[in-house]
Amino acid sequence: MIVLDKENRVFTLRTKNTTYQMKADQHNVLIHTYYGPRVGDSDLSYLVRYADRACAPNPPEAGLDRAYSLDTLPQEYSTCGVGDFRLPSIEIEYPDGSRAADLRLTDWEEERGKYTLDGLPSFYGEEGETLRLYLEDRAANVVVELSYGVFEDRDLITRSVEVHNYGSASVRLRQCASLCLDFQRSDLDLITFDGCHMMERAPSRAPLRSGVQGVGSVRGTSSHQHNPFVVLCDREANEDYGLCYGAMLLYSGNFQALVEASQYDNARLVMGINPSHFCWTLEPYGSFTAPEAALVCSPRGFGQMSRQFHRAIREHLIQDPCQGERRPVLINNWEATYFDFDADKLVEIAKTAAPLGIELFVMDDGWFGKRDDDNSGLGDWTVNTGKLPGGLEVLVPRLKELGMKFGIWIEPEMVSEDSDLYREHPDWALRIPGRAPARGRNQLVLDFSRPEVRRHVYERIKAVLASADVSYVKWDMNRSLTDVYSAALPAQRQGEVYHRYVLGVYEMLDWLRRDFPHILIEGCAGGGGRFDAGMLYYTPQIWCSDNTDAIDRLRVQYGTSFGYPVSAMGAHVSVTPNEENGRITPMETRGVVAMSGTFGYEMDLSRTAGEDREVIRRQVAFFKEHYDLIQRGDYYRLTDPFQNGPYTAWEHVSPDGREALVSLVTTSLRAAPSFRTLRLKGLDPKRTYQVNGEGRWPGDVLMEAGWPLPLDLFQGDYRSLQLCLSEV
Ligand code: GLA
Repeated sequence: MIVLDKENRVFTLRTKNTTYQMKADQHNVLIHTYYGPRVGDSDLSYLVRYADRACAPNPPEAGLDRAYSLDTLPQEYSTCGVGDFRLPSIEIEYPDGSRAADLRLTDWEEERGKYTLDGLPSFYGEEGETLRLYLEDRAANVVVELSYGVFEDRDLITRSVEVHNYGSASVRLRQCASLCLDFQRSDLDLITFDGCHMMERAPSRAPLRSGVQGVGSVRGTSSHQHNPFVVLCDREANEDYGLCYGAMLLYSGNFQALVEASQYDNARLVMGINPSHFCWTLEPYGSFTAPEAALVCSPRGFGQMSRQFHRAIREHLIQDPCQGERRPVLINNWEATYFDFDADKLVEIAKTAAPLGIELFVMDDGWFGKRDDDNSGLGDWTVNTGKLPGGLEVLVPRLKELGMKFGIWIEPEMVSEDSDLYREHPDWALRIPGRAPARGRNQLVLDFSRPEVRRHVYERIKAVLASADVSYVKWDMNRSLTDVYSAALPAQRQGEVYHRYVLGVYEMLDWLRRDFPHILIEGCAGGGGRFDAGMLYYTPQIWCSDNTDAIDRLRVQYGTSFGYPVSAMGAHVSVTPNEENGRITPMETRGVVAMSGTFGYEMDLSRTAGEDREVIRRQVAFFKEHYDLIQRGDYYRLTDPFQNGPYTAWEHVSPDGREALVSLVTTSLRAAPSFRTLRLKGLDPKRTYQVNGEGRWPGDVLMEAGWPLPLDLFQGDYRSLQLCLSEV
């Protein structure tokens, strides 16, 4: 709910459990007064302190009042060049070379429903509300429009920023953050989600120290290395306790999330497009829209914060072509065949998969152009009829006869030098004149900032998708951007290429969804290199990591779950020993871990032993039976796999509290195992549950006293356990 105190110009955003407030002060500066657990709607500006601080400049309107300084006030959207020396949110360069932004509130508007953004992903929903605040830099004739979306039930507040140049000359936007959040305290911890290819999104937590700290990407994607999602929290906050703030950027390119702990022990979070390599020219009457950011504040620990993000993403961000129906269990041939396959081989795998209950066959890389390894073929999106005689028109009916749907891999943004596309249009690849471009996986990146490039690629891919009944597309992206220069833009606009590239990707995803609304798109970027809320708007699921080892996945999926729901996490069972790290794990355990994601298989089932196939048949049936609970239930992290404890456990609870599924994987063992008891979470204390169809256990007992773990669970490597709870 949005509460406006027009007289005092106090703007309060109220959600179920939180309150967010801003106020325009006597000089029309928009100050941030409060964000935290829900309180009444009264003016909270009494919290803001004024003091004469040496070296803190005073704006002209303050006259001789030396206690009024932009450098000490909590700002709603921080400025630059006029007296706030902390992290800026916006930086504008004018024709005379000056750089400044001095913003004062001029107007506001309230709208029903949640705003949308043209060409950019955003949370949607009629139950959302919108507040717009207009800030003006009078000297420059620039208006900054701050939009707020409020989803009361989800404790979700979204923000976006649009900059309008009403001046008579063009200006250069050197920074335009999506979010600025000031705290009148700095005794907070910052958690970021970091890693590398194969080990993405490991939480990394540290107390704020004086100065600037944070993460970002200049790789052109949100990256494996850092995720555009950060948490600030009480020093003592944990899963169930303490105040925490999650901030998520809906953006899939270069980003930055910085926190500054400043001289008087205040903190400021600024998040948005990375200003490095960014410069956007705003012509007179032109405008620029920054990507959306979303905030959830949880007064009760990380668990609640995550569950609010999960629900918001499932209900207000993802646009599921399956329309609430169960998504199919899939088999992907990548780790089964790599590039070495033909139609018969694919059909052979499908033949063993179908009777096990697997419903979708995904043909991965290698089906097009001249593509027998990763050195050639990208860009030539026509079926290789040597491998697939007769094309998809022949292959897909063969799979459908087995009762299987069909999915296909594409990597639209890339081009191999050894391809017809590159030979025809060498200038379509990103490269800086006079320099040979760096290769990544021996491929170059197409200039997706150019409409004609994406249109061409799209038309080719569209023809393939239209040639058969395709239910699923895996959109891959396997290298970072380098040599970023567009042959189609003038020198002063080269700072726009990274962002225009991302907008180009979003546009093509939009075309794909428009023309093939029934196709389920899974995002992927060398595994989880572009796992962000921006992509989730277009691709309801994203391949979480190229690492399919169940034990490493415990960590990847744990870290990912802080911001993103199970239904977004692509997860597959693969062979043992695992192809990435050589670890040997039981089939049961691999299934337990993968089914806490979108669930599928990535192995040559035609070579799988009979007893393993039996396990698979049971797993698939179990997953289907518990689909709603797993994919739409509330997620509870019961242990932290980074603590190197003897096991990792997590739990899904149905929204009505009547059902739960506990999953546990052991990660170390020893002779003479200890007696261990697992305490459950999220149950209804007053309900009575059966566990795996037996007994009667009160919810409070299971949560407070716990469930004794069988000793033989710790005898044998990486064993697993699932407990199904249902109300009796
Ligand atoms: C990337 C993906 C894999 C697979 C290969 C194909 O690495 O993450 O899942 O699709 O590309 O080349």
